[in-house]
Amino acid sequence: MDITPCEATLGATITGVDLAAKMDDATFGIIEAAWYKYGVLIFPEQSLSNEAHIAFSRRFGELERSITKNRDGYPEIIMLSNVKRDGGLWPHESEHGLFLKGNTGWHTDSSFKRVPSMASLLAAHRVPDTGGGTEYADMRAAYDALEPAMQAWLEDKVAVHSYMYSQGLVGGLSVLSEAEQAALPPVEHALIRSHPKTGRKNLYLGRHASHILGQDEGESRALLQKLCDDACQPPRTTTHYWSAGDVVIWDNRCVLHRGQTWPGDQTRVMARTTIAGEAGGNEWAL
Ligand code: OGA
Ligand code: MN
Repeated sequence: MDITPCEATLGATITGVDLAAKMDDATFGIIEAAWYKYGVLIFPEQSLSNEAHIAFSRRFGELERSITKNRDGYPEIIMLSNVKRDGGLWPHESEHGLFLKGNTGWHTDSSFKRVPSMASLLAAHRVPDTGGGTEYADMRAAYDALEPAMQAWLEDKVAVHSYMYSQGLVGGLSVLSEAEQAALPPVEHALIRSHPKTGRKNLYLGRHASHILGQDEGESRALLQKLCDDACQPPRTTTHYWSAGDVVIWDNRCVLHRGQTWPGDQTRVMARTTIAGEAGGNEWAL
């Protein structure tokens, strides 16, 4: 197994391992340790079946289930796809296209849930000829780069995260039923969190973070935007340009990500599993 760090404060590419094969604990331990260190691991040319994708994801913990009905019969897999049931493509500006467009804003998966996710594993099934990369930003290094006075001020602050707020800005909410929307109330999360395994502090925000509890809504929204803009700058960012078959796992606790757009007349099909932050309860994902 070869581990090659990216030229950023996060990310590494791992080759020489077959994620679909039976993996002993020692090998998995090496992957897990690299994941804690780099936050994002890229595994090129894996071409995992849905079953193998789910099985490898389960090594990290319990999986979230999709809140929306999955047409492929794998509740643990969320398909990010612009392909319609009839084989045509959803235009970027259709409701479904806008629903997907939400992913182009910096975010961490499931931060709008009371128990946010631990990790996401994204596998590329079909990729466009150009565009459609995924960018990652290191919120540990972003915390380290803050002025000490700002670190101290943020220490006890709590942000309100809301999917209805974040997706409402983009559109596409009608893809969700009323019952699904009702299952998405705002939740609160500390802005500074410590990683449970490494103890490193990090910023925790992104597009679902609407404002800071107890602060002026407009001012704190502007501050969150500025903190996020400043955080997602080199050397804290890296981009993965996908080939079909690639798999990437990232740590949602300390990494933000966003998808790049691609030509609307081209197919992009990605499959994601989401590892729950805590076992049991509150298990659905989006
Ligand atoms: C995700 C996501 C971005 C992309 O899978 O959670 O935000 O590039 N994906 O598809
Ligand atoms: Mn995402």
